[in-house]
Amino acid sequence: MSVTEVFTAAYGAEPAGLWAAPGRVNLIGEHTDYNDGFVLPFALPQRTVAAVGPSPDGRWHVCSTLINEPVSFGKPARSEVTGWGAYVAGVVWALQEAGFEVPPVRIAIDSDVPLGSGLSSSAALESAVLTALVDLGGLDLPVEKRPAIAQRAENVYVGAPTGIMDQSASIRCQDGKALFLDCRSYEVEQIPFDLAAEGLAILVINSNAPHQHVDGEYGARRKSCEEAAALLGVPALRDVATADLPAALDRLGDDVLVRRTRHIVTENQRVLDTVALLRDGRVREIGPLLTASHASMRDDFEITVAQVDVAVEAALDAGAYGARMTGGGFGGCVLALIDADRADATAAAVAAAYEKHGFTAPASWVAVAGPGATRI
Ligand code: GLA
Repeated sequence: MSVTEVFTAAYGAEPAGLWAAPGRVNLIGEHTDYNDGFVLPFALPQRTVAAVGPSPDGRWHVCSTLINEPVSFGKPARSEVTGWGAYVAGVVWALQEAGFEVPPVRIAIDSDVPLGSGLSSSAALESAVLTALVDLGGLDLPVEKRPAIAQRAENVYVGAPTGIMDQSASIRCQDGKALFLDCRSYEVEQIPFDLAAEGLAILVINSNAPHQHVDGEYGARRKSCEEAAALLGVPALRDVATADLPAALDRLGDDVLVRRTRHIVTENQRVLDTVALLRDGRVREIGPLLTASHASMRDDFEITVAQVDVAVEAALDAGAYGARMTGGGFGGCVLALIDADRADATAAAVAAAYEKHGFTAPASWVAVAGPGATRI
């Protein structure tokens, strides 16, 4: 059944419209967002679609093609709704908290963003619902201010201490572009990212290692970064310049804080270097930066797992220009920059390495930069 049919079957009416918001791949800049740093995601063609229409009883109703657990709520009190409906209730709550009059609506959801793979299925859900509510309610909320509302839904209502990258990507990305985002000022630059024109492609490999946000490791990394910034007397690790890194590490002393800080500062620099190369059209040359980012996540930030390390190594052995885990870590997806005609060979090489290690076979596909959230 299409999402419109699901809406009609559930509510006995036609939706007022359909809104879609994508998942994302982050090209480079991992865990830099909550350090006020830089990220460079692009939107996936995979997206979440929300069919939405007015709710005659003044309550919010949500159903989904993916999970047979409809959710209904009145004016949501903080964290009252749990499970998948929390992402929707959280957006309604965050808009109300920001002083908006949110229209009560009925919603049917469909999505082809793989769940739990580090491709921001939750941000896609939040962003599709938020965009629909802004449009239907005629809310005066400019695009650049929307990600912070969706992030608040996730941080405060759902309780996952994430940064602002995923919601920014889902809302602000553009077709054929990568989104260079300054996570302190929320300024963006749309970086042309037409790999096919260069004979290149990004292969995304789902490691199938389950990945979780509402867990201690992500929060622990965030806490270490905040602790290091406080010890160094700066508002955030973004404020440690690359040239000052050795002195900053000497001051920190503590081995864990040293490694966490080194990842963030070098990763911010890698984002800036990647953007500079892309602006110059030197796309192949970003490969070593991607691979260095992976090594930093593996050795210094310690957020990779065997499945993603094996996928990166196998892709590089198969001739990729660069490869790295993308997303929050502890599983999720790997991306590899490859010649466009090497997609099948690279995917096969990774699959063979997985078989050798006894890992569940990975899914791989070529990702092309798509548009951000919009009415369709
Ligand atoms: C998750 C979070 C983001 C970001 C990444 C790591 O996707 O939701 O805010 O911190 O991890 O870069």
